[in-house]
Order: sequence, then C-alpha cells, then structure tokens
Amino acid sequence: MQFEVFTLLPEIFPPYLDSSILKRARERNLINIRVHNIRDYTRDKHHTTDDNPFGGGGGMVMKPEPVFEAIETVLEIDASQTPPVPASNIPIILLTPQGRVFNQSIAQELSQYPRIVLLCGRYEGIDERIREHLVTDEISIGDYVLTGGELPALILIDAIARLLPDVLGDPTGAQDDSHASGLLEYPHYTRPPEFRGWKAPDVLLSGDHAKIEKWRREQSLLRTFNKRPDMLEKFELTKKDLKFIESLKPQEKSEK
Ligand code: ADE
Repeated sequence: MQFEVFTLLPEIFPPYLDSSILKRARERNLINIRVHNIRDYTRDKHHTTDDNPFGGGGGMVMKPEPVFEAIETVLEIDASQTPPVPASNIPIILLTPQGRVFNQSIAQELSQYPRIVLLCGRYEGIDERIREHLVTDEISIGDYVLTGGELPALILIDAIARLLPDVLGDPTGAQDDSHASGLLEYPHYTRPPEFRGWKAPDVLLSGDHAKIEKWRREQSLLRTFNKRPDMLEKFELTKKDLKFIESLKPQEKSEK
C-alpha cells in the first residue's frame, strides 16, 4: 500500500517511520510512504504557503495554490480540464478536527485502498477551496485540537499499516486487538509465572486450550462491561456471552 503525505513539516516523519514495525514493513515493501513538502510546490520567490485570512481575524491560512499543485502533480491529476479529472479511487484525506472521528473500522476501510493521500493542515486553517474541490474525506483523531495534522497522519499510517498482510509478525496479531472484534482485548501475561507474589492466572498455564479460550472471552466481556459499556450495546452477544454478562450484573464493576 502506498501512502502519499503532504505536509509543511516533513522532518517530523522519519523518526517514527524509521522505527520498529513500520521500518520493517517499508524495508519489505509491504508499505511505501512518500512524504512531500508542500513548500516545494510554491512558485513565488519567498516560497509562501500561508497568508492572512480574508475578512480579518487572527491566525494564518494555508494558501490553495501550493496544495493543489503538490497533490495534482504527485497524483497526475489533469488540472487543465474543468472540473479537473480526479485521480480515480484515491482518497484525498484532510486531517482536521472537523473530520469524522477515526476508529478501527475506518482503519479497516482505508486499508482496502492501494493508495491514499494524507494532507496535513497547519496554521489556523486551510483555504476552503482545498476542502471543497480537492479533498475527498476529512478525518479527526479526536475531539481536541493539535497544532497540525502530522501526528494524526502518523496515527492513521500506523493503524492502517498493521492491518495489512504480513506487516505484523503474527498473522493473527490484529484479530484479537481491542476494538477489532468490537470488544476490548483480554489481559496478557508472560514469564515469570509469579512476580513479587503476583501470580499469572493458572488457567493460562494449564495447556487446556478450550478453557483458555473461554477465560479470554469472559475477560474481554468483563473488561468491556467495566470500561466501555457503550461498546457492549453495539456488540452482538452470543447466548453464552449474555449469560456471563447477566452473572456480572449483581456485582457490577468488579474489576477496576
Ligand atoms: N489537526 C489538528 N487537530 C486535529 C485532530 N484532532 N485530528 C486531526 N487533525 C487535526
């Protein structure tokens, strides 16, 4: 999968993209990430990318010309046509607190595309014509405001990349993730079996796979019940799940 990132701060990206799983995925050509500096597409002597807002008020606004020029060049969009011929089926995503709120199912949805564009906003905002005539989707990473879309773009890349085939070492790695199934993930333990007197649950050391699976399912349900009851409302519970949830109700919120 190919990610095309457009930003005024390309230097933010390498430290994260050159580490750990994303680094390995890039080396193995499972993902390809190109970071484009919007400033390289300015045509004036001062390489201007922002200007004062029409109508006054504080803050600067990202100018439309370099953003259109950058994305149209990289995607080979024919801007001489009116309206410009769009790049077929390549989402052009603006990272903005005004977008739809990112979650696991949006990550899943975007992981199906062979190529996506991530446009990082800076300053107070972007010229509205970018939003109206270039961008095809807007995504927020939550109801708070950051100084720019660079961290949100990295978050999308990370969440999407780990869903792609062979990116995680364990091929089933992403299946049990919190949110992947609609439930929070069960707790994990590793060696030593006892640490400072705190023991790992016996069932996990029992070698009985059916029992382990049942315990994990119940722990997932218990965690979701305690921490994210809103998720349980949307989740399709089996009869066994329902019985387990009912058994929790008298003691409610048993796990911290
Ligand atoms: N840019 C600034 N804040 C943002 C947010 N919460 N999500 C996405 N992009 C942003």
